[in-house]
Amino acid sequence: MTRRPFIAGNWKLHMGPDRARQHAESLRVRLLGEERVDLAVFPTDLSIGVVTAVLHDTAIHVGVQHIAQEPEGAWTGQTSARHARLAGCHRALIGHSEVRQYLGVTDEGIHQRARQCLSSGMLPVICLGESLAQREAGHVEHTLLRQLELALGSLEPDEVATCTVAYEPVWAIGTGKSATPAQVQEVHGMLRTWLRAHYPGFVADQTRILYGGSVKPNNASEILAQPDVDGALVGGASLDVDAFTRIVEAASAAA
Ligand code: PGA
Repeated sequence: MTRRPFIAGNWKLHMGPDRARQHAESLRVRLLGEERVDLAVFPTDLSIGVVTAVLHDTAIHVGVQHIAQEPEGAWTGQTSARHARLAGCHRALIGHSEVRQYLGVTDEGIHQRARQCLSSGMLPVICLGESLAQREAGHVEHTLLRQLELALGSLEPDEVATCTVAYEPVWAIGTGKSATPAQVQEVHGMLRTWLRAHYPGFVADQTRILYGGSVKPNNASEILAQPDVDGALVGGASLDVDAFTRIVEAASAAA
């Protein structure tokens, strides 16, 4: 890995405030000495307050799982990027496949959220992924490059370089069926080649590309050893302090 590794835990709709506080306290103890890996956790909105209270003086970033495309206004039920930043968040997941699928967020909406995130002073983690049907039809490259191009849209090169891209094949999320290290490297290499062709060289050198989809302690090392894999976005295994810590240790060893 040439870029600094980044391991992020997506807690999805798990762990309300009490449980999240305990979990964050355990992570704080277990990961306090970790200096080689950038870390972030994405609690539910209602647990962000307690988690930032526990982690605010550590290097573990807290992030928000989804933001509105507008900063404020008559948008009942939404979460503002600006407010998330004020609540102590440093990062936002943008376009997770569950958000694309269940909330009907379009590629254009994803670009607007990436902008919102950056203009609120947070760093985006832009999620991309193909469905099983798209993979079986041979449309992986077309699907992912289109998602990436539309998500980045008119962002400036220096903005793109601060984004993290997370490749999460939809068929591997929460299924226990991870992509193979070779499949992951093939896609990550393709995404980096696209970045190199479309932006000044520093963008492809700096933009981190994470893999997500059934990353566990037993497959993390092999995936993280791939040259274009800069870390992982971890769902299920991030709910277990031991498992998450072991994945962070695998990233530290690969750094
Ligand atoms: P998983 O989820 O690790 O449980 O597959 C990954 C994600 O959705 O970010």
